[in-house]
Amino acid sequence: MEATDTFSLDVAKTSFLSLLSSTDPSEVGNFMDWVIKHCSSVNSDDGTKDSANQCDETLLMPGDKRMKKIIKDIKKRIPLDGIMSSENIYHPEGKNSDCDPSTTVHVDSFLYSDEDIDRLCDEGKMSRTYCKECGSHNTAPLTFISHSMSLLQLRFLFESALPSLLSNLNNKCLVDVGSRLGALLFFFSQAYYFSAIEKIIGVEINADLCGLQQQIIENYSMADRVEVKCADVCNELTLLKEADIIVLNNVFEFFMPVEEQIRTWKILRENVTKPGCIIVTVPSLEEATLFNSKPCVDLDEWVQPCSVNYMYHVQDVSCCDEDMEELQNMFFYQVKVN
Ligand SMILES: C[S@@+](CC[C@H](N)C(=O)[O-])C[C@H]1O[C@@H](n2cnc3c(N)ncnc32)[C@H](O)[C@@H]1O
Repeated sequence: MEATDTFSLDVAKTSFLSLLSSTDPSEVGNFMDWVIKHCSSVNSDDGTKDSANQCDETLLMPGDKRMKKIIKDIKKRIPLDGIMSSENIYHPEGKNSDCDPSTTVHVDSFLYSDEDIDRLCDEGKMSRTYCKECGSHNTAPLTFISHSMSLLQLRFLFESALPSLLSNLNNKCLVDVGSRLGALLFFFSQAYYFSAIEKIIGVEINADLCGLQQQIIENYSMADRVEVKCADVCNELTLLKEADIIVLNNVFEFFMPVEEQIRTWKILRENVTKPGCIIVTVPSLEEATLFNSKPCVDLDEWVQPCSVNYMYHVQDVSCCDEDMEELQNMFFYQVKVN
């Protein structure tokens, strides 16, 4: 066999076992340690580090190897842009109207950090620019959009923002409206080992995304406190009335026409009424509920904006300006007593 030939999986497995059986038994343990260490940084197809399979470990909670596995697992199950073929993505009309479909790249920031994107660009799997005049160097930046919270936002929310707003997270029920890949559900479930939100519920309208979340919940034994409901949030009124924390991360703009968005915000306004309930939104409620320069709900009657400290440190390192901007896109409110 030529050195450049490749093995099929079956041949590779048989050769590996044969190699193991001919290794000095007293050295097998050391050999396996070496294999595990060496192979954890080797790509599955070209022998180099596989960016599509890495994750920014500095942003995981300390000792959180499971979360890293979950992220890898999800990456294997979805396309690089994170959009399911069953999804219908809308071109938003508001502040995000610059997201022209032909020049917008969907990259999930729960799965891929900026450094991952740089590496994917270096490997030719992604680009940050597009050619304005084919063949020339006259290029322009592509617009990047994520449909999940980033690890940084999740960690800030869990470690800093929520504890500063609620003195006690015990026995609380958190609802993520539009839970998508389950970023928030899985992060909070893992983080639960460090704190104690009792119930973490995702509501997701897309059945394929619900199937993906359900598989992860089962494979990683999270069903005791994590649940995903495959439903339109407009049909989950009891949940909306009972939740202690409700997260709405860019939830409707890219996924439904304007009339539907207005109808949904009105239903949320009518039903998210538990006094003291914390609402976390990206973008602000003021922006998300504004259509044709008119608010579609009476925000002043409904909620009180909360201030949080966006100065956040991960492992004693302060956030850079870009990270800070990411955090400052998150807004916090408390439902008023009627
Ligand atoms: C931007 S993603 C939010 C991701 C996730 N919450 C996070 O922070 O990582 C919005 C999700 O909301 C879902 N969605 C849109 N309208 C919905 C509705 N009426 N009920 C439930 N889910 C909805 C979409 O399918 C999409 O997956």
